[in-house]
Amino acid sequence: MTPKYDVITFGDMCVDLIVTGDDVTPQFGQVEKVVGNYTLEMGGSCCIFACQAAKLGLRVGILGRVGDDDFGRLILRRLKESGVDTQHVMVDPQLKTGLGIALCRENDRAILTYLGSICAVEPGDVTDEFLASARHLHHGSFFLHTRLQPQIPDIFRRARALGLSTSLDPNWDPAEQWNSTLLAALSLADVVMPNEQEALLISGCDNLGDAIAWFQRQGVAMVALKQGTAGATLYTAQTVHSFTAPPVVGGDSIGAGDSFDAGFLAGWLRDLPLARCLDIAGQCGCAVAQGTGGLQGQPTWPTIDVFIDEWRKQR
Ligand SMILES: Nc1ncnc2c1ncn2[C@@H]1O[C@H](COP(=O)(O)OP(=O)(O)OP(=O)(O)O)[C@@H](O)[C@H]1O
Ligand SMILES: [Mg+2]
Repeated sequence: MTPKYDVITFGDMCVDLIVTGDDVTPQFGQVEKVVGNYTLEMGGSCCIFACQAAKLGLRVGILGRVGDDDFGRLILRRLKESGVDTQHVMVDPQLKTGLGIALCRENDRAILTYLGSICAVEPGDVTDEFLASARHLHHGSFFLHTRLQPQIPDIFRRARALGLSTSLDPNWDPAEQWNSTLLAALSLADVVMPNEQEALLISGCDNLGDAIAWFQRQGVAMVALKQGTAGATLYTAQTVHSFTAPPVVGGDSIGAGDSFDAGFLAGWLRDLPLARCLDIAGQCGCAVAQGTGGLQGQPTWPTIDVFIDEWRKQR
């Protein structure tokens, strides 16, 4: 029987309040500053991932909780508009929907996070029935899902036993410990997609060559290394593929890494060659990097290649 979904994930459900301008540094002492602009948008690594995956034609289900509030309703609306199935999202009146306040200037940002619904998924929510409904399980905010984190290796093990492939984007560890149950989960993931800094901090290595070798020794078959403006590199035991990112004008790069993950899987779950999967991933990352927030710019399947073809012709 064909599973209902191509991909399932867990929602770190939150909204992002993105504040931009030349001077967005708050000053205590009751100083009021005027900023350039703001955007209120759905955030959350797995939520942004889910929207991008659905826009690329994958059948996507997400498991999570939101508060019974306007931010929760915004998240549900954005997921549905993008084509994500929200049947497994619970509205919990006891909960306040999570909020990330991102203060952005040039290529940098500072974020203040209220967790609330972000870490509200409980291990008991992840039933075998939910896992068996998909071909692939992706987890993209390992360190923020604090309740789920101790059980992630077990959840990945169960998913694999049920025949799912798996992927993991560690993202940043706000506690900067890096040595949690992540290590046990790595060997259970078919693809791991860290950025350069995360790869170094998780492996404890001081250069990327050693870091990649370290991941491979943990049993990771594919490492898709995200390198911001430089693009990305995909490592397997036999091959190395690279993606060169076109220059991006403007944007805040929020959600670029999560959309990259979805792009890679949109190729991989269609059995496309690895170099092509990386190319699609990189394009999704760039398209989102030049927009505001995690959703603006996310390409749909028919629009993949349009922007990059133009750029490659001009080179
Ligand atoms: N400023 C940029 N210019 C061009 N391409 C970019 C830029 N930022 C991101 N990208 C593209 O998006 C991909 C993923 O972005 P990045 O390397 O920032 O991942 P990340 O650090 O995991 O992001 P996130 O902050 O979303 O977690 C890159 O590999 C690249 O292809
Ligand atoms: Mg990331």
